[in-house]
Amino acid sequence: MRAVFYDTNGTSDVLRVGELPTPSPAAGEVLVRVAVSGVNPSDWKTRLGSARKMAFPRVVPHSDGAGVIEAVGEGVDRARIGQRVWIWNGQWKRAFGTAAEYIALPAIQAVPLPEGTSFEAGACLGIPALTALHGLLTDGGCAGQRVLVTGGAGSVGHYAIQMARLLGASQVLATVSGPEKAAHAMAAGADACVNYKQEDQVARIAELTGGAGVDRVVEVDMAGNGRLLHQICAHGAVVAGYGSNTQEAVFPFSPTISKGIGVRFYIVYELTAAQRAIAVGALTPWLARGMLNHAVAATLPLADCARAHDEVQAGRHMGNVVLAC
Ligand SMILES: NC(=O)c1ccc[n+]([C@@H]2O[C@H](COP(=O)([O-])OP(=O)(O)OC[C@H]3O[C@@H](n4cnc5c(N)ncnc54)[C@H](OP(=O)(O)O)[C@@H]3O)[C@@H](O)[C@H]2O)c1
Repeated sequence: MRAVFYDTNGTSDVLRVGELPTPSPAAGEVLVRVAVSGVNPSDWKTRLGSARKMAFPRVVPHSDGAGVIEAVGEGVDRARIGQRVWIWNGQWKRAFGTAAEYIALPAIQAVPLPEGTSFEAGACLGIPALTALHGLLTDGGCAGQRVLVTGGAGSVGHYAIQMARLLGASQVLATVSGPEKAAHAMAAGADACVNYKQEDQVARIAELTGGAGVDRVVEVDMAGNGRLLHQICAHGAVVAGYGSNTQEAVFPFSPTISKGIGVRFYIVYELTAAQRAIAVGALTPWLARGMLNHAVAATLPLADCARAHDEVQAGRHMGNVVLAC
């Protein structure tokens, strides 16, 4: 099969395109003919190896993808052959991800993809959509809450705005860095956007919430925004933190504790089986009814994987970059 792979950490130059043996599904696995592979920030970070060194001698990158089940291993219902699916954790604690014509992986990691949902959209679900959804569902959910989505035009943020609305948030605010991103976040359903580079975020959020502050933040940059959280949160708010632009986040202790703010760090790869089942259970009917907009910014050929990594790293696109396999 044609695949993208790397044998050493480094810049995108380490990515090679070539032939690898087509995998066979082991017991409990399915073999998916990958149609589209999704690129996420963690793919270039893992390839670069700054946080984690090569865990396997050879890696086929990417955790997200979508395609069709072509074969099943022992113990898997043969009726699944021919099923359209989307994939989660394709390259998490596993060497071979979705940047290939085929992937064999545990059957549960290939979730049925409703007919009306494209493979491009399916390749955005494993990381961006589930990260957004868990940040809204964790710690009691967001129904009736005032929600702030920082980085509202990002891949995760764009889903988080839409999903907060679907889950019954009473107000959805977003931070963005410019007018184009504001338009993208407003089209997703935000009530208002705050330009965090030009406006006084604290004052604007106070104004927009009538002085109450927000009940939940879906936070893209814990380090960048940690110092502000106590000023924009209501008492007892939850900060669901999934990203940080730098390693160390600071939360001023006294004001943060006085407001009883709960900080929930989470990584989508490590959702428990129960958490994932809840998120997938919420997502599937929305997909089936076409209730989500999927921001696919660019579809590139598999051979352009290095370019796709560089584009995602540079943050050049508003939305997901995917590869046609
Ligand atoms: N924990 C997890 O499981 C998990 C899952 C998915 C992603 N992540 C991480 O989360 C981050 C975002 O992922 P993504 O796929 O959504 O990336 P993305 O599509 O590049 O979006 C990130 C967005 O955040 C904005 N942003 C950056 N710094 C900001 C700040 N201080 N305040 C407000 N907005 C800010 C960016 O725009 P501007 O720079 O123009 O503002 C951009 O719109 C990455 O670091 C990624 O590794 C973690």
